[in-house]
Formats: sequence, structure tokens, C-alpha cells
Amino acid sequence: MTASDQRTDPPGGTGVLAGRPVARIGFGAMQLPGPGVWGPPRDRHMALAVLRRAVELGVDHIDTAQYYGPDVANELIHAALHPYPEDLVLVSKVGAERDAQGGWASAQQPEQLRAGVEANLRSLAVERLGAVNLRLLDAGDGDGDETAGHGIDLDSQLAEMVALRDEGKIGGIGISNVTAETLRQALPAGITCVQNPYSVLDRSGEPILHLCQQHDIAWVPFFPLGSAFPGMPKVTEHPAVVAAATTLAVTPAQVGLAWLLAHDPHVLLIPGTSSLDHLAENIATADVRLDTDTMKILDDLALPPAGP
Ligand SMILES: NC(=O)c1ccc[n+]([C@@H]2O[C@H](COP(=O)([O-])OP(=O)(O)OC[C@H]3O[C@@H](n4cnc5c(N)ncnc54)[C@H](OP(=O)(O)O)[C@@H]3O)[C@@H](O)[C@H]2O)c1
Repeated sequence: MTASDQRTDPPGGTGVLAGRPVARIGFGAMQLPGPGVWGPPRDRHMALAVLRRAVELGVDHIDTAQYYGPDVANELIHAALHPYPEDLVLVSKVGAERDAQGGWASAQQPEQLRAGVEANLRSLAVERLGAVNLRLLDAGDGDGDETAGHGIDLDSQLAEMVALRDEGKIGGIGISNVTAETLRQALPAGITCVQNPYSVLDRSGEPILHLCQQHDIAWVPFFPLGSAFPGMPKVTEHPAVVAAATTLAVTPAQVGLAWLLAHDPHVLLIPGTSSLDHLAENIATADVRLDTDTMKILDDLALPPAGP
């Protein structure tokens, strides 16, 4: 495809999110604000261009949060894309906020969840969000999962999310940073999607993906390429991924994303990028097919080492 082309097919095929069809390759907006997901983008013009190009290339599912920036990602989405295409599904999250130093703090009181949804509705200028993830933070380092968060019981958080859905403010309830046990507890609320870290190099979420399969819930992995945060293994740098990319004459990012798409039909991708070239690459993953041998090599990557 040339830069001016528009795809006519949904990139990656079609999945379902909160009852709506979406292309399986979407876009995550977390890379658009400044470094550390804090403050304005380095290049506003580029950030707006990435969003517009994503939609031109067939993206109809954008993942965002009011706390990206904070207030930056949503403002960019609105500036780039409003009035939105009818088929665009905007998904956000509540349950966290930023402190004055750019740290991530829990905001999981029911009234904070409601205020978070209202803030997203205002900044994105919509009456209803496609889905909203309840983002669970642990009580420790703010980057974990496990608990419903700071002693606020999960059921009261979910009750608020259900109320917001009943009021028509959100199309579906997602949950993020969950254990299998927490997801099981949340199922009666009607969960449409789960966001957990997961990639060809990080299969810690596999038991939760199994639950998503059983309950037909979309699995929307974050950090599908290993994230921009320092100190995390980057999918694009792993020697086996790089070797597979060379063999198939594609890019390492495409290998990592194609593995996710092939791994399970419940996977919906939201890779994040601030680069037009990377965006085009990520969406062109739709045309990448991994042969059986390559799948086997990649499947085995995250297995624990054999022997003592
Ligand atoms: N639910 C949650 O709690 C949660 C948490 C984190 C993230 N998320 C969502 O998940 C989305 C994805 O996660 P993420 O953005 O943190 O991490 P990611 O998609 O795994 O990785 C983003 C990093 O990969 C780079 N990248 C993207 N495409 C590339 C390519 N083709 N080749 C080489 N490098 C590439 C980006 O740099 P460039 O900008 O230079 O391309 C950036 O450094 C986020 O955008 C956000 O919407 C949700």
C-alpha cells in the first residue's frame, strides 16, 4: 500500500467489542502525550496526524484514558477526529489518576469512577463511550493488579459501572489488571473486555485469556510490544522475533503482533505509537501470516526453561 491508500477491509479481520464489530487491529493512545505519558506531545502535529491516519487505515477502535497526559490523549483524539466516524469505538478507563509528580494513583471510589466517566464524556464530546475499563491498581507500587484496590470492594466498584452502563453512558464494562480470581468475581456484571499486559514474551495472563475464551470476552492486551517504559523486555528486540522477521521479510513488531492475532481469535490489538511509520507497520500486520514452524518457535518463547 502507498501512503495515500486507504484499506477497504478491517485490518486484522473483525472482532466484537461491547456488541459492536471492530477491526482486530486498533490503536492505543498512550504514546501520544509527552514522555512518561505526561504533558503535551513532543510534536502535536504528528500526534494528530497519527490519529487521523489510523482511522484512514481502517482503525475503528481507539483505546484512551483521561489520565493519559492527563487530559492530553482525549484532547488530541477530539481535535483530530471529532466529529467522529459513526463506526469509531472509543474505549477508556477509570480507576486511576495522576499525582502532581506524574505518578499513578488509585481513584477507585465509586464516585471517582463516575467522575472519571463524566470527564471522558466531556473531553471526548460524546454521550456514550463504547466501553470503559475498570482499571484496578494494587495497593503497592501502583503498577500491579490483584486486588480491587485500596480496600474498596470490587462489588461496589462494579455496581457503579453497571449503573453507568444502565444509564447509557458506557456501552460495555471492561476490567483491567485482573487476576483470574478477580475476573471470575466480576463476571456477573457482564464483562465485555479484559486489558492485561500480555505479549509473545509475557504470557503471565494466559489463565485469564482462558477465562475470556470460555466467556467470549474480548482480550485486549496492553504492552503488546513490551511498552515504552524502560526496563521491560521489548518484543522487537528479542533475537527469535528478529530472526523470524528476517526470514519472513517483515518487521519484528509485525511478528509480535501477528503472533497475538494468530494466538487467539478473542485478541483485539491496541498497539501504541507516536510514529506514522510504526502505525502503518502495525496495521499492515493484517497482511502477515506466520507459518506453523514460526508459530511453534514463538509459542515456545515464553515457556519456562527445561531442566533443573
Ligand atoms: N489497561 C491498562 O492499564 C493499560 C496500561 C497500559 C497501556 N494500555 C493501553 O495499551 C496500549 C498499548 O500499550 P503501550 O502503548 O503502553 O505499549 P506497546 O504498544 O507494547 O508499545 C509501545 C512502544 O512500542 C513502540 N512501537 C510501536 N510500534 C512500533 C513498531 N512498529 N516498531 C517499533 N516500535 C514500535 C512505541 O514507540 P513509538 O511511539 O516510537 O512507535 C512505544 O515505545 C496503550 O497505548 C494504551 O492505550 C492500557
